[in-house]
Amino acid sequence: MTGASTGIGYEIALQCARHGFDLVVAADESAIRDAAELFRREGVAVDPIEADLATTEGCDRLHAALGGRPVDALLANAGRGVGRAFLDQDWDDIRYVIDTNVTGTRLPDPEDRPRHA
Ligand SMILES: NC(=O)c1ccc[n+]([C@@H]2O[C@H](COP(=O)([O-])OP(=O)(O)OC[C@H]3O[C@@H](n4cnc5c(N)ncnc54)[C@H](OP(=O)(O)O)[C@@H]3O)[C@@H](O)[C@H]2O)c1
Repeated sequence: MTGASTGIGYEIALQCARHGFDLVVAADESAIRDAAELFRREGVAVDPIEADLATTEGCDRLHAALGGRPVDALLANAGRGVGRAFLDQDWDDIRYVIDTNVTGTRLPDPEDRPRHA
């Protein structure tokens, strides 16, 4: 579950934990460790990963953390919205959103690609 530290991702990860899924949860900031502690209280195993999923390095770190374990479901929720009208946005901001919300939603190894949400 990516983007599991806050918002929609946090709530979905909590539901997954309550339904017995072990979790690998990722976000860019250390708050993911606090969220992981709360998910663990549901009785499942939780690995928190701090990684900027807008970067290849961050995606690779998440992939490495899977350690070859099978992934039943990838919930690719990490993302941001810039807001404002598209033509008023800075290109660097737009690029970061694309890198996070689009490019960062894939697992690099086709063998690891599960039901993709
Ligand atoms: N809320 C809405 O109305 C709405 C509408 C349409 C689409 N969405 C999309 O739904 C998703 C969740 O929305 P939300 O409102 O729950 O957002 P949110 O509360 O801001 O949560 C976003 C999550 O994604 C993580 N994240 C963002 N950029 C990241 C990056 N580069 N690398 C790793 N983690 C990253 C954040 O962690 P860090 O803070 O640690 O980076 C956080 O855990 C987003 O993709 C958003 O664009 C939301």
